[in-house]
Amino acid sequence: MRWFIVPLLSVMLLGLPVAAQEAPPGGDENYVTPGMEGRAPSAAPLEGDDVHIFTDYDGTVAGFVSIPDRQSGVLVQEQGRDWRAFRSGWFLWIAGGLILLTVGALAAFFFWRGRIRIESGRSGRWVPRFNGLERFAHWATAISFLALAITGLIITFGRPLLIPLMGHAAFTPLAEASKTLHNIAAPPFVIGIVMMLVLWLRDNIPNRTDIEWLRQAGGMFSAPGTPHPEAERFNAGQKMIFWIVTLGGLLVSATGLVLLMPFFFADIGGMQVAQVVHALTAAALIAVIIAHIYLGTLGMEGAFDAMGRGEVDENWAREHHSGWYKTLKRPAPDAPAPTDGKGVPAE
Ligand code: HEM
Repeated sequence: MRWFIVPLLSVMLLGLPVAAQEAPPGGDENYVTPGMEGRAPSAAPLEGDDVHIFTDYDGTVAGFVSIPDRQSGVLVQEQGRDWRAFRSGWFLWIAGGLILLTVGALAAFFFWRGRIRIESGRSGRWVPRFNGLERFAHWATAISFLALAITGLIITFGRPLLIPLMGHAAFTPLAEASKTLHNIAAPPFVIGIVMMLVLWLRDNIPNRTDIEWLRQAGGMFSAPGTPHPEAERFNAGQKMIFWIVTLGGLLVSATGLVLLMPFFFADIGGMQVAQVVHALTAAALIAVIIAHIYLGTLGMEGAFDAMGRGEVDENWAREHHSGWYKTLKRPAPDAPAPTDGKGVPAE
């Protein structure tokens, strides 16, 4: 039955003449529709109420159309099944697993190591770390990334997790808003990524200092009180974050653009590849950024000031970025404590 159901449906539903991309040899009774080769017509008649309305056909059915939209000549694309199995099957396990593993590892690290303190305590003196433009680039990227990540996760996990919890009626507007916000948050993310790339490229070129830093894993697994390995403006861990975020960010941006403009840059196969790359890269970025946010807030005393106020405590700079600290023009030790810029002494 199969050999004739799909072509029949294609003609009935789409008005597609089922034929080869090249013109079918007219009237040739041996002509075989592409994708149907080797499928012998079944001789068995349908029995009783055994009426086929759907045939689980796993090949490709492509026809010939003369309208400008040649895509519509494809009725069944077999790679679509693999893509669907990825999108609604194992991608959920990969993304969910990666995120849960990261959160679990960070929680275990926190309970084992606690907060990484400024060993010599706060000095009360501040040294400039990031200027206004650098912080603008960072927060534009960070805020838009958070919006993209949250809306992306709603879109990804909506069907298996949110619909059973909140029902279709409530999920529909949430999904629509998520999709719109996802599109709106993309341009500032791209701008932020490009700005960070331009502003911080020079400071993120790997060098010899990074080897020793990596050998000691940044001192993160050393007992509290052990001096941190030397680092310049960015340590090897931050350089890795920088490269993952910028290159990964450009990859999600490019593949996102392919998905945003269907059939403009790629055909259906190209868009499936773009979706897979987009989804896997985004899941990896989310996991990396969860670790980054942990270290920038709860995980390390004094780190948030760098992006929050643009300055860090002098002791933090000396302990965590000794190489960079030595290059700074520091005030003389007996100089009065700097103010916060409004004449108020900094704490
Ligand atoms: C609430 C979210 C975030 C917080 C609290 C945060 C915090 C921080 C802090 C404190 C620093 C400075 C570290 C230092 O001075 O050594 C930093 C740097 C940086 N952030 Fe974030 N960040 C956040 C989100 C993001 C996001 C979403 C991205 C990219 C998608 C990002 C990318 C970077 C990069 C590339 C750097 C420079 C390298 C590094 O320090 O790792 N951040 N962030």
